[in-house]
Amino acid sequence: MKEKLINLKNEFIEKVNQINTLLEIENLNKEFLWKSGKLQEILKWLKDLSVDEKKVIWPEANSLRDFIWIELENKAKQIEEQRFANIEKEEKIDVTADFETKGLWHKHPISITSNLLEEIFISMWFKVEDGPQVENERLNFDMLNIPDNHPARDVWDTFWISDDINKDLQSWEKVLLRTHTSPVQIREMLKWNLPIKIIVPGRVFRYEQEDARHTCNFYQLEWLVVWEKVTFWDLKGTLETAMKKLLWEKTTLRFRPSIFPFTEPSAEIDVSCQICSGTWEKNGKSCSMCSGSWWVELLGAWMVHPKVLSGAWIDPEIYSGFAFGMWIDRIAAQRFGVNSSRMFYQGRLKLNEQF
Ligand code: PHE
Repeated sequence: MKEKLINLKNEFIEKVNQINTLLEIENLNKEFLWKSGKLQEILKWLKDLSVDEKKVIWPEANSLRDFIWIELENKAKQIEEQRFANIEKEEKIDVTADFETKGLWHKHPISITSNLLEEIFISMWFKVEDGPQVENERLNFDMLNIPDNHPARDVWDTFWISDDINKDLQSWEKVLLRTHTSPVQIREMLKWNLPIKIIVPGRVFRYEQEDARHTCNFYQLEWLVVWEKVTFWDLKGTLETAMKKLLWEKTTLRFRPSIFPFTEPSAEIDVSCQICSGTWEKNGKSCSMCSGSWWVELLGAWMVHPKVLSGAWIDPEIYSGFAFGMWIDRIAAQRFGVNSSRMFYQGRLKLNEQF
C-alpha cells in the first residue's frame, strides 16, 4: 500500500508539472482528491490492514493529501502570476503618453453658456443649487401659487409620468417632468436657511409647438434672492452686469410688465437681438430669432409673491424675495449667432465643432 501511495505521488508530480491552466488544476483536484478520486480509491483498502500498518499508512496518506493540495494551490498561484505578467507585457499602458486631444471633443454650446453663467454668478457670491428633473405637482405648480384649474397651467403644460402611476395619488404626489427650474426656489426656501442667494441651472420640459425659440426641452437658469432689504435695483443691476459680461457691452435690456402667478409684480425682460443686430432681417428674410421685432424674450422675473413666501413659512412682512428664470438656450443662440435653438438638440457635430 505504501508503494501505491508513492506511485500516486509520482504520478501526481508528473502531471502537475505538465499543466498550465486553472481548468487543468480543477481536473487534477477531481482526479486525485475528490471522493471518487485516486487517493480515496487506495484508502478504501485501509480497512484490510492491521492496526500497526494503519498507524503508519494513515499519516502518510494524510500528508500525501496535504502535499497534493498545497502543490495545486502553488501551481494555481504560479499560473495567475504568469497570466498577469503576460497581460502587463501585451497590454502595456503608457500613462505618460501625450495624445493630441485638440479637435477630438467639444463642449456643447449650452454647456459653455451655462458654465459661463455659473462663473459670473459665483463671482457675485451666488451659490449653485440643483433640483430633480422629475418633480411633483405640488412643487412645480401648487406651491408656486398655480393651483389646479388655474389658467396658467395651460401655459406650462408638461409631460406627466404615466397616468397609471399617477391616478391613485394625491395632487401633491403626482409626478411630472418639471416645467421650469422654479420648484427649486421652494426646495431652497423650505431648507429655512436665510438669507438665500442662489442660482439653479437645469433642464426643463414643456409640451410645446417647436419653432426657432421653442423646443420641448431646454435649459433654464433660476435666480433667487430672499433677504430683508432687497430691491428691484439689485435684480436689475445683477442682470445687466451678467448680460454685458456674457454678450457684449452694447447689449441693451428691455423691461416689460407681465404676469406670473408666483411673482407680484412681474416683468419680462428682453435682450436686443444680436443675430440680426437690429436690422430685423437675416439673409433677406425676417430674423427667425426675434421675428423681426429686434427684441428676444430672455427671462421672466420680479418680486416673489407673498403667498409663495408664506407657503414656505417665510414671513413676507420681514423678508422680500426677487427671482428670475432665464432661457440659457436663447442666450447661447445670441452669444454664438445660431439662429434657431432647435439646432442645439439635433446632435449636429458640425455645429458643436465650431465652438
Ligand atoms: N418660471 C418662469 C417660466 O419658466 C420664469 C420665472 C422665474 C418668472 C422666476 C418669474 C420668476 O416661465
